[in-house]
Amino acid sequence: MNLVANLKAADRRVTTLADLNENQQAAIRRIPAEKDAVVEPIEATRPNAVFTGRERYDQEQAGIFRRFPVPVTLSALLPDPGMVVANDSYGVPLLISRTRSGEIKAFVNACQHKGSKLVEDCEVHKQGRMTCPYHAWTYGIDGKLIGVARNDAFINLDKGKRGLKELPAREWGGVVYVQLDGSDPDWSQLSDQIAADFESLGIPSAHVYGRKTFDLKANWKTVLEPFLEGYHVQRLHAASIGDMFPDAPNVVDLFGANIRQVSGRIGYTPQMLDEDASQNVHKLVTHAYTAFPNCVVVTSQYYISVMILMPRDVDRTVVEYFMLTPGPATTDKATEVFARSYELIISVFGGEDFRAAEISQAGLTAGVPAETVYCGLETNIVRYYEALEALL
Ligand code: FES
Ligand SMILES: [Fe+2]
Repeated sequence: MNLVANLKAADRRVTTLADLNENQQAAIRRIPAEKDAVVEPIEATRPNAVFTGRERYDQEQAGIFRRFPVPVTLSALLPDPGMVVANDSYGVPLLISRTRSGEIKAFVNACQHKGSKLVEDCEVHKQGRMTCPYHAWTYGIDGKLIGVARNDAFINLDKGKRGLKELPAREWGGVVYVQLDGSDPDWSQLSDQIAADFESLGIPSAHVYGRKTFDLKANWKTVLEPFLEGYHVQRLHAASIGDMFPDAPNVVDLFGANIRQVSGRIGYTPQMLDEDASQNVHKLVTHAYTAFPNCVVVTSQYYISVMILMPRDVDRTVVEYFMLTPGPATTDKATEVFARSYELIISVFGGEDFRAAEISQAGLTAGVPAETVYCGLETNIVRYYEALEALL
């Protein structure tokens, strides 16, 4: 942590309490001192089939992931006009681009000649146009078909009718949402408050320091659960970050099926908030969000983690992890701090939380336990499930 303290101001660009919106500040003001935290016991369970059942998986696909727009990537990944990235994580080949006018667009990554992918990798490309690798039809970054090789060999080929298939897309607090089945989007599940919170955290304008994809053998909710509860933190993370967080419930607000949790770091007292108006609020408080339905945001002192948990099967989830910093490192010190932070967070989320999800799923898939059981340090899981179940 001394390493972090030595960062130059330009690389720290700290977020103070006053940088957050009033609703966020009010939530933070509700965090009790660590010694005053009270755990209310609860009795709650969910049947095994919630994590292992084909029927439930199909219901979620139809009732959530194809019915509503879902998070696909981050605005910050495509900061400049002309940028494009492919994404297959939901099992639908997608292209996300930022047009010349700065607008985000989403397309099916399939050529209108014979369906070939236009962009084959998942790197970010900056280019004014996309050329199909097969017969070299060329499309603008806005999806218009602009060039056909040997156009003279076709009769009645109307380029105006053969642009890329566009899907409804929108940026929401720095998260790019796409309606995967192309139907008329129902944006009602997205919360204005969540978008405002993400904006005050600087997510839309952040720098993508690192990005990594994990292909996990676990149901998407098994992967999500550790980001909704503090019960595991001092235990699963005993050897890494467990001693930074108290064994206390988070302060939670639900906005439909979006959840915001805030919690104090170890030794937190509310008085600390007002000791120094210029201090980094992320040193005192951790934010953990789940934006509808599967986008997790966790704040750390000098970076923000965003994860999109994309279900691929009952027991398979592709997670795209993004580490966001306020900007690229401008000093050697920052370079070192960001690199060490990235290594740490990948080993904590990947080696601990995701590993826990996979080893839990192994038991669940074997039918044990017949029902999962939740305690008063896991209340948010139950509340979030209730909000999701209302949509199924
Ligand atoms: S499939 Fe794209 S040009 Fe033929
Ligand atoms: Fe964790």
